[in-house]
Amino acid sequence: MSDIRLENLTRTYGEARAVDSISLQIEEGEFYSLLGPSGCGKSTTLRMVAGFVRPSAGRILLGGQDVTMMPPEHRDIGIVFQNYAIFPHMNVADNIAFGLKLRRQSRSEIERAVSNALDQVGLAGFEDRFQRNLSGGQQQRVALARVLVTRPRILLLDEPLSALDKALREEMKFWIKSLQQRLGITTIYVTHDQDEALTMSDRIGVMRAGRIEQSGTPAEIYEEPATVFVTSFIGQSNLLAATCLDVSGGHASADLAGTALKAEAAQGVARGASALLAVRPENVLMGAEAEAAGVPLMDAKITGETYQGAMLRYRLDLGGQEVVAERQNQVHLERWNIGATVKIGWTPRRARLLPAG
Ligand SMILES: Nc1ncnc2c1ncn2[C@@H]1O[C@H](COP(=O)(O)OP(=O)(O)OP(=O)(O)O)[C@@H](O)[C@H]1O
Ligand SMILES: [Mg+2]
Repeated sequence: MSDIRLENLTRTYGEARAVDSISLQIEEGEFYSLLGPSGCGKSTTLRMVAGFVRPSAGRILLGGQDVTMMPPEHRDIGIVFQNYAIFPHMNVADNIAFGLKLRRQSRSEIERAVSNALDQVGLAGFEDRFQRNLSGGQQQRVALARVLVTRPRILLLDEPLSALDKALREEMKFWIKSLQQRLGITTIYVTHDQDEALTMSDRIGVMRAGRIEQSGTPAEIYEEPATVFVTSFIGQSNLLAATCLDVSGGHASADLAGTALKAEAAQGVARGASALLAVRPENVLMGAEAEAAGVPLMDAKITGETYQGAMLRYRLDLGGQEVVAERQNQVHLERWNIGATVKIGWTPRRARLLPAG
């Protein structure tokens, strides 16, 4: 069993709560990402699971067993950090064998395990190379192989791609995910990169100031963000000041600059209270498209246009509030000049009403 359970896990440094009472269940074989801005407590959480940092309060259970006070080397966990810590004075094979030698395994067992691990990370034939002759991505694969060779029941990855350039990051992202799926190993992945979290994870925990603000599948986090923080941290969103007219059963109606609109309602939205209406730029319909959608229409004025190749971004003024709309650059795309007035609207299912502040 290799599920992970955190119960009110807390770590304080003086008065500061680096991790503030996190409770979380991660299932066996799951790829769970901790996503959040710098300093929100991602690494501290991961280090507590690994056993390098002692919790101030709370419990950690691995496969149902309480390991809160267990030393790291007994937890059966593999951990890979941002900076590929492979030993420069050892070749790839020796790097990978390092952990096994400490365990006093036989020479032939070690050779078999090393070659198996190199196969797993796609580096068969690289046994004799040294760090200076490996690309960043290859070094990170060696670091992973060195961890996998000990057959950990849990894999912890702390920003393993952040030292790589963008193209390599893209490639490694899919590679790590498929490796994790093939091995079926329970994984916690720490990142501040929303694209990594969205593409790789089964579930994401969005962290802020030591707490998990929302935990859910990538689609839930992106399409049903629970708070303004999650809405603006994941992707881009227009956040428009509105007043909640009515709310019931997860649906709401709101007044936006004199127009009554329907929207999905997040927790905490109250009738009569001021609220923020969140609409992603790709969901803002314009012109003929808006009129054909049969949704409430509003007049907006074009204030800017940015050409992005595959996409066009319009900036619009809607009764004094700025709205950003993103249109796919297709053959029949309707275009407007700056200063033109255009009808805009959106499908109620694509708008969310969130409590303000
Ligand atoms: N050993 C320590 N002593 C004092 N404060 C610490 C210590 N380790 C972490 N902190 C503080 O705890 C908070 C959380 O740090 P942590 O490293 O977990 O953040 P993070 O989410 O991993 O950030 P980043 O994205 O920058 O890596 C920060 O405010 C940090 O300064
Ligand atoms: Mg960190």
